[in-house]
Amino acid sequence: MSDTSSTDLVPIPHGLPMERDAGPFDPPRAITRLRGARPVSPMIFPDGHEGWLVTGYDAVRQLMADTRFSSRQDLGVLHVPYETPGMPAPTEPSPQVPGLFIAMDPPDHTRLRRMLTGAFTVKRMRTLEEHIVTIAERQLDHLAGLTPPVDLVQEFALPVPSLVICELLGVPYADRDNFQVNTARFLLKDVQLDEKMAAYGALTTYLSELVTRKRAAPGEDILSDLARHDELTIEELTGCAFLLLLAGHETTANMLALGTFALLEHPEQLAELRADPELLPGAVEELMRYLSVVDILYRYATEDLELGGETIREGSTVVVSLLAANRDPRRFDDPDALNIHRNARGHLAFGHGCHQCLGQQLARIEMRAGLAGLLRRFPTLELAIPAGEVRLRTNMQIYGVHELPVTWTETAR
Ligand code: HEM
Repeated sequence: MSDTSSTDLVPIPHGLPMERDAGPFDPPRAITRLRGARPVSPMIFPDGHEGWLVTGYDAVRQLMADTRFSSRQDLGVLHVPYETPGMPAPTEPSPQVPGLFIAMDPPDHTRLRRMLTGAFTVKRMRTLEEHIVTIAERQLDHLAGLTPPVDLVQEFALPVPSLVICELLGVPYADRDNFQVNTARFLLKDVQLDEKMAAYGALTTYLSELVTRKRAAPGEDILSDLARHDELTIEELTGCAFLLLLAGHETTANMLALGTFALLEHPEQLAELRADPELLPGAVEELMRYLSVVDILYRYATEDLELGGETIREGSTVVVSLLAANRDPRRFDDPDALNIHRNARGHLAFGHGCHQCLGQQLARIEMRAGLAGLLRRFPTLELAIPAGEVRLRTNMQIYGVHELPVTWTETAR
């Protein structure tokens, strides 16, 4: 077993995530090298403080199952600026934001998560599935009505999850345009900080009014189910609603857009998928593994802990790369190949342990409905610019593409 010594600290001068120097879909070369050499590796953050970087599949899985690696951290999400590349996580837990259970540990986490799990019922998922197919098809009608080239992110990948979340939260139709505009302003990169702050303010105010209305007159949606729990305060309900909005939006949008990009760059697999839509569920799972759009996660050691033969001291910041873990050759054969026929089960793209993605079934439904419709209705879909010119979200918490200009010559029903 070894301990940190100043000679073997890996410097990460520009923070994480890093540039994708091995191609748009692959982990940075330094990360791949590190996983081979030392899957649990000491590192130095841009501000000079020391921590650990975990890149091996087994170690990542073990860490994520162990709540002594705390999730209580400054998310950098509610603490605008939203993107804080390379921002070191604080070395001590920050105060909890009410309702934001992704950044809580048990038992606080358990209490809130349990209430939400109860709302994500199979019956509701089934109902949602019908709505999601309709939402995706309507958005594809809209896309088909445009004159190419168009940006697939703006016209398809972002609106679909946004509308699904409106269903989930029970945002009334009359409010949806406004809600979507503010969500997009808050999430998009090329928006001024003051505009982002204004959008954030408008969203939280809106959500707090919405949960207050749901409490007074609950409907059929998930937020209403939550609002029925009297022990939850309005602040907690607002926090939960905001978490659902954030967690389910950019993740799915980027999977849809980057997934399309990846398929367009693998034409043989795309052709197979078009020929046999039954392959889609497996392809979605493989795309989740291969792309791992939620890559970097932070944890904090609440006591001295052993991981992968290393001793991680209490108070250390631990950074996890889910992408590196999902490309670990010790777990997946030929891991850097996209192979829609492989069994990708066991991938960590939805996390692992008590924080494992609550919306994963929903995300799968959205991916299947979105990709199935897109491939069926746009049989000649292709990139409208060279692949090397697609702008990648290398410096953002959730990986993907900023835009995906696409074109086509014919559409189908
Ligand atoms: C948690 C990925 C879609 C809701 C997580 C985590 C990951 C993840 C990796 C674990 C975070 C951690 O351990 O710190 C993804 C990906 C998605 C996706 C890649 C899309 C393809 C969704 C959707 C929803 C959702 C559609 C719901 C609307 C959540 C929530 C949590 C979470 C509430 C926190 C769970 C907890 O802390 O107990 N997601 N997610 N996600 N996700 Fe997702």
